[in-house]
Amino acid sequence: MVSAQVPAAGIRIEVRNAPKPISPDLFGAFFEDLNFAADGGLYAELVQNRSFEYSAADNKEWNSLTSWQLIERDGGKGAVTVESEKPVHPNNPHYARLGVSSLGGGVGLSNSGYDGIVLKSGEAYDVSLHARLSSAGHQKLAIQLETEDGAALGETSIEVQSTEWTRHTATLRATADAKQGRLVILAGATGSIDLDVISLFPQKTFRNRRNGLRADLAQAIADFKPRFVRFPGGCLAHGDGLDNMYRWKETIGPIETRKAQRNIWRYHQSLGLGYFEYFQFCQDIGAKPLPVVPAGVCCQNSGAAKTGKWGQGQQGLPMDQMPAYIQDVLDLIEYANGPATSTWGAKRAAAGHPEPFNLKYLGVGNEDHITPVFEERFKMIHDAIKAKHPEITVIGTVGPAHSGRDYDAGWAFCRAEKLEMVDEHYYVAPDWFWDNLGYYDKYDRTGAKVYLGEYAAHDKDRKSTLRSALAEAAYMTSLERNGDVVLFASYAPLLGKHRRTQWRPDLIYFDNSTISPTINYEVQKLFSLNAGDALLPLTIQDEAATRSADGKTQLAASCVRDSASGDLILKLVSRSNTPIRAQLDLSGLLDAPSPASCTVLSGDASAENVFGQPPVVLPATSSLQVAPTTSYDLPPNSLSVIRVRTKA
Ligand code: AHR
Repeated sequence: MVSAQVPAAGIRIEVRNAPKPISPDLFGAFFEDLNFAADGGLYAELVQNRSFEYSAADNKEWNSLTSWQLIERDGGKGAVTVESEKPVHPNNPHYARLGVSSLGGGVGLSNSGYDGIVLKSGEAYDVSLHARLSSAGHQKLAIQLETEDGAALGETSIEVQSTEWTRHTATLRATADAKQGRLVILAGATGSIDLDVISLFPQKTFRNRRNGLRADLAQAIADFKPRFVRFPGGCLAHGDGLDNMYRWKETIGPIETRKAQRNIWRYHQSLGLGYFEYFQFCQDIGAKPLPVVPAGVCCQNSGAAKTGKWGQGQQGLPMDQMPAYIQDVLDLIEYANGPATSTWGAKRAAAGHPEPFNLKYLGVGNEDHITPVFEERFKMIHDAIKAKHPEITVIGTVGPAHSGRDYDAGWAFCRAEKLEMVDEHYYVAPDWFWDNLGYYDKYDRTGAKVYLGEYAAHDKDRKSTLRSALAEAAYMTSLERNGDVVLFASYAPLLGKHRRTQWRPDLIYFDNSTISPTINYEVQKLFSLNAGDALLPLTIQDEAATRSADGKTQLAASCVRDSASGDLILKLVSRSNTPIRAQLDLSGLLDAPSPASCTVLSGDASAENVFGQPPVVLPATSSLQVAPTTSYDLPPNSLSVIRVRTKA
């Protein structure tokens, strides 16, 4: 516990045995389909543009055949066109027509997935597609997994005999690993065939769910044990214009009936990961679902990417559309919680989940500009929810920053409307967090509770440095200290696909086969796995002696108790470049030395765990005995989590 290096200054930390209840659900996750977090990310679908719905509206370089290639092997001749007459479903208007005039060595389509399809030797993959003959005869389609060089890694076939759309399924087993694999569909005869919703899923999804999630990525989220998951955004929720608002009803049911949407972050939402899958994931990881619906207005930055007019694009749904919109919101609650015999509960049951999902919180709005247009619509939605579902806590929104016009107006509106909870967002420099450790100390204890729905320390060049992670850790001790007011907090954004990010920093970077958690992730995990439900008051004496030359605090601390285990958890954060010697006085809580673990995250403040390189800063855990009074040296630039077991 005591370092060889002579500490610069000494402090005394006393923890008293006067527990105060705090939120047991403080640390959670915020998932937004940004940075290819859903399609090409958490959603395990391996085929990109499976429904031929990509368009220039998604991304100006895209069209219906993006990610598809026509194959004409050894004299084979064919053509592919995109058609829309009598589609599989009106919500899914385009499909591919493959015409084969000469079979040669093979004519068909291949899909290279999202930057290549990763295949694992021996693993099973489920293929499904919708097909109909568009000329006489029948087709035996060969379905193959291949490397990028065309080496076969598995093959099966599908017989198509109908001129009506029919769904076909097959299973393939990869015979070798591939990082840049592809799915190939080859015609068995000349003629013409229509194809749509061509899907390839690994059978091994997270918890083996059908239409499920990528197991390793979902596990990385599960591993930090978020107590809640907010979804689907962010700006994605309120959308880029009224026609781009996230409509939950368009995201449920068979995948071919879901209505794909352009993504506000300039790509595409297949919506294969929709509300059912979000709810299921929350249940699978023991997290409370926290959906966010638009407050009847679209993002204030709507259209700004084209017009350059930021902050001027908010529009409200026309008033004659509000009753139907409000009904959609009420139907969402029924979908989540209603009996399987109710209209919307029956749809949940039909998807395989007759039991309710226990929705308790619903966000309405996402950092919207607080305007009369917003307020009028928010109030209509809020009042309708509270009238029909008083059991649901509605979470309001107070703008995109920790202060300023929307923050002030949002809070004034929240007080006037007597909201139970509001969602705050701020992305600021590491110093802001250190300078504002008392931010919530001044909050009214009798007013609305806070959900800090989006926050991150943005260091220079938006790097995920230890400096940024420690700033967040310091702030998280203050969230614990204010866990009577702040009920939930989530770092944002959660996922960023390597080379496909629109926003940095993110908590976890990944590509098709690698997952690279940031140091900030390690901090979230340490806090979440060491959360408590009671705060123990802690005082630091002589803290001034540890301050920097310009008088800035270098130290933050909190102590909580987890009533399930009885453990006492002390978190100490230092941004000093030298060790700080602390005399820990736990004599009010311990009367004999107790077994403990001490987990430390420390290093160079500018260090980063960079994608594709071995991590340089990882938590290290040791076992020790903690006496009622004991000496502990906080390493330079460190988070220490000391977990003391008080029960035998
Ligand atoms: O987290 C990224 C974006 O930041 C969210 O979509 C938005 O709510 C915020 O501005």
